[in-house]
This record gives sequence, structure tokens and C-alpha cells, in this order.
Amino acid sequence: MSGRLLEGRVAIVSGAGRGLGRAHAEELARHGARVVINDFDGAVANEAVAAIEAAGGEALAKSGDVADWKGAEELIGAAVAAWGRLDVLINNAGFVRDRMVVSTSEEEWDAVIRVHLKGHFAPTRHAVEHWRARAKAGEPVDARIINTTSGAGLRGSVGQAAYSAAKAGIAALTLVAAAELARYGVAVNAIAPAARTRMTETTFAEMMKRPASGFDAMDPANVSPLVAWLASAEAKSVTGRVFEVAGGLISVAEGWRAGPRVDRGERWNAAELGAVVKSLLGDAATPEKVYGT
Ligand SMILES: NC(=O)c1ccc[n+]([C@@H]2O[C@H](COP(=O)([O-])OP(=O)(O)OC[C@H]3O[C@@H](n4cnc5c(N)ncnc54)[C@H](O)[C@@H]3O)[C@@H](O)[C@H]2O)c1
Repeated sequence: MSGRLLEGRVAIVSGAGRGLGRAHAEELARHGARVVINDFDGAVANEAVAAIEAAGGEALAKSGDVADWKGAEELIGAAVAAWGRLDVLINNAGFVRDRMVVSTSEEEWDAVIRVHLKGHFAPTRHAVEHWRARAKAGEPVDARIINTTSGAGLRGSVGQAAYSAAKAGIAALTLVAAAELARYGVAVNAIAPAARTRMTETTFAEMMKRPASGFDAMDPANVSPLVAWLASAEAKSVTGRVFEVAGGLISVAEGWRAGPRVDRGERWNAAELGAVVKSLLGDAATPEKVYGT
């Protein structure tokens, strides 16, 4: 590795008290960024700040619910009040309430959709106001949003209907924000990580086992170098992309695209569609497996 990639940049990481968010915050700080640590849990946010300071970095804690509209506004405000600017927003906070479709309660559905989708949108919306104001004042803006989707959102996951729907929504939000915010100098991408954290250590216990020796592929810190790079000036032209990342593996998700097609030039008769759909599906790529099937 050569040099520090984020000298002078100011970043916010939501849900940074533990797990992936904490690993991202520590990596950003190692590269010279000043980092606002948000977490619902103020105690772990303070611990993350202490760890960054002990390693010679700069950080401050701003605890609170990232999906709260006013709280999200205050989070952006905390970065600007402390360091005069914001350059990087890492939307990461979230939780799961795993249930089959048939047993998901209304409360579980609402909580999961809220923490992920609104928890991404609310800070994005307030950060963009900051960047738009700077761009309008003629200041150069070279900003980043890095969202957190999931393989569950890209392929679906049995027992995670609300979570998969929210994470698929985050992938779509990433595409729209990238298209809309380029004019203000903001690049927007998403990662779909896999790592051993509180969220996965029970559900995916077998997959998340720590090896006796050698490379620990499920260490959350493996995900953070890509996040740091995407946050840096080098990544200016990369936008609207989703990267899957785990261990030493990085792949670019290719997303939905129109596959085999047929155009009758007029309305179809339902009775003739059996053969037509069969032929289209015969020509189409086999879908990737839904997790858990
Ligand atoms: N661990 C994985 O393999 C994996 C896979 C795919 C996606 N993800 C995503 O990565 C992100 C981080 O997950 P993790 O595995 O590190 O989980 P984690 O539970 O270890 O950490 C999540 C953190 O977010 C905080 N948080 C939850 N709700 C919040 C809120 N409303 N406001 C502020 N903070 C809040 C929690 O207190 C916790 O510290 C999540 O969005 C998750 O869906 C993780």
C-alpha cells in the first residue's frame, strides 16, 4: 500500500460502533479521514472513537437513530460543526428480524424497511443539501456516498423477506442517487459485504467460523479497504455501481438488464403466450439461486 488516501477528508459512518461500520471507520481514519461515528448505541460509538484516537486518528461520536429525519439532519450538522465540511457518507447502520413471509409481523416489516431504507435516505437527503449549497456557492465538491446493500437484496434470501426487499431498494436508490447527484460532484456506490459480525454470527454460524490459522476471510476489516478507496479522490469517476466484497474477493454486480425479447407489434392474446414465454425462458440465463434454497 502506498500513502494515505483520505487526508483532509471528513466522513460519517452510520452504525459504526461495531461490526462492519466500525471496521470502515477505523480504515478511513487510518487513511487520514476525520470520522463521525454514528450508532444507536452510544457506548459502542464512544469505544470506536477511543480506539481511533488511540491509533492516532481523529473521530467524534454522534449517537442516535439514523432513520430519524431530524437525527439524520443533526448527524450531518455534527460533521460540519466540528470540521466545517462533509466529504463522505457511509450508510451502513441496520439490523435484521429474520422471518418467513408467512410469519413476518407488521412491526417486523416496518422496522426493517425503516432502518435500512429510511436509514439510508434520511442522511443522504441532508448530506446532499450540504453538497448542493457548496456547489451552488461555487466551491469544488468531490463527495461520496457509499451504501450498504446485501446479497439478500441482489438475489433474495429465504427467511429475510423484509431485509431482502429493503436491501434491493438500497441498490435502486444507489442508481438513482448516482444519476441525480453527479451534477453536484457526488459519486454514489453500494457494497454488498459478507463478514462475521453480531448480525451474522448466529444465523450463518457455520460459514462465519474463524479458521484455526491463515487468512480469516470473514473478518469485517477485509471489506473496508474497498470502502476507503471508493471514498477517495481516486474513485471520482466510479458511480452507480454495486460491489460484492468478502475476504479477498471483490466482484461487480451486473444487475437487472433486459434479456431475451419478443415484440408482436400489437397486443398479445393470452392463449398464445404459453409457447412465447416458454421460448423466452429457454433463451434466458438461469437465475442465480436465492440464498437458502
Ligand atoms: N455482516 C454481513 O455479512 C452483512 C452482509 C450483508 C449486509 N450487511 C449489512 O452491513 C451493515 C452492517 O451490519 P453488521 O453486520 O456490521 O451488523 P452489526 O449488528 O454488527 O452492526 C450494525 C450497527 O448498526 C447499529 N444500528 C442499528 N440500527 C441503527 C440505527 N437506527 N441508527 C444508528 N445505528 C444503528 C447497531 O447498533 C450496530 O452497532 C448492515 O446494513 C447490514 O445489513 C452485513
